Amino acid sequence: MYQASNEEHPIEIVNIASLEGKVKADMEVGAFGYIRGGSEDEWTMRENTASFNQKKIMPRVLRGIDHADLSTKLWDIDLKTPIIQAPSAAQGLAHEKGEADTAIGVAATGSIFSISTYANTTIEAAAAAAPGAPQFFQLYMSKDDGFNEFILEKAVKAGAKAIILTADSTLGGYREEDIINHFQFPLPMPNLAAYSEQSASGDGEGKGIAEIYAAAKQGLVPEDIKKIKDLTQLPVIVKGIQSPEDAEVAIAAGADGIWVSNHGGRQLDGGPASFEVLPAIASVVNKRVPVIFDSGVRRGEHVFKALASGADLVAIGRPIIYGLNLGGAQGVASVLEHLNKELSITMQLAGTKTIEEVKNTQLLD
Ligand SMILES: Cc1cc2nc3c(=O)[nH]c(=O)nc-3n(C[C@H](O)[C@H](O)[C@H](O)COP(=O)(O)O)c2cc1C
Repeated sequence: MYQASNEEHPIEIVNIASLEGKVKADMEVGAFGYIRGGSEDEWTMRENTASFNQKKIMPRVLRGIDHADLSTKLWDIDLKTPIIQAPSAAQGLAHEKGEADTAIGVAATGSIFSISTYANTTIEAAAAAAPGAPQFFQLYMSKDDGFNEFILEKAVKAGAKAIILTADSTLGGYREEDIINHFQFPLPMPNLAAYSEQSASGDGEGKGIAEIYAAAKQGLVPEDIKKIKDLTQLPVIVKGIQSPEDAEVAIAAGADGIWVSNHGGRQLDGGPASFEVLPAIASVVNKRVPVIFDSGVRRGEHVFKALASGADLVAIGRPIIYGLNLGGAQGVASVLEHLNKELSITMQLAGTKTIEEVKNTQLLD
């Protein structure tokens, strides 16, 4: 039987990069490989973090900044920080409380939690774990319209504030570590299970990634955005945008938000770093809808640079799963608090007091 962590305490963090080694020491090898890994040579994955060094922040002084104010808004949702959690599947691999603990940890920092279609926790249980806190539902659209309607209705009923349509993962990237480890999900995915009680399509347990993605709709089209909006009456954010052209298509099709991401380098290897494509996308979006950014963010200064390059919010993937593994809900909060602390220091040293001022900062080449 798969044994996940049951730690529940704050974690000491010197820097986010050091968490990976601590998790590796105790986690089952297949689960760790699935969480850490990227696709093929992991070149794009490495570039995601390395690319932040291509831009510099000018230190500014004598501006009377005695503290930084991280508060911000997405639509009418008040947030204590622009740093949010990126939807990630199968968090039962990291902790026995899975997504429920992540939801609690994220809520404690006044941020947004998003639950994946392929979570190990139901949408309802994640919502109940952090009542009143803003949550989004991330949809892997299915070929089966019955499933889409079923799961979206659940998300609406659970109080989701938006639907994230992930467009860059209609199939899994070629992740060699999962092949070497013959990785199969050891735990059920209850959002799939709830529907499979009606359709016998299975609950994900004992399946490999390719088998899970096989049920997803490979032929996603812009019209799918409107379909989701009509079904839910909620804002739809399209995740996995890496080109200005695709951002334009998504907005024309009704997208209420653009999520710039290359899935943390887990999908197309050989593509650009997510940070590299952000300015051109933000420029095309031109503030018509909010821009959320992720992939490779490991420092407060990375968050600062993304905000200064056109992002409204910045999302964190793997480090939050590592925090969950090392300390449960409190470990998740520790990761977000650490990044908030680094961002706060960066803001003050750059002479910026508010997130709006960060967004108006010019980075140096
Ligand atoms: C283990 C793992 C599972 C993921 N599962 C999903 C998912 O179910 N849906 C989704 O939209 N993105 C998923 N992602 C991608 C994240 O949302 C995010 O784009 C990525 O992790 C950001 O990169 P970072 O890990 O470098 O921060 C997953 C990422 C990881 C590491």
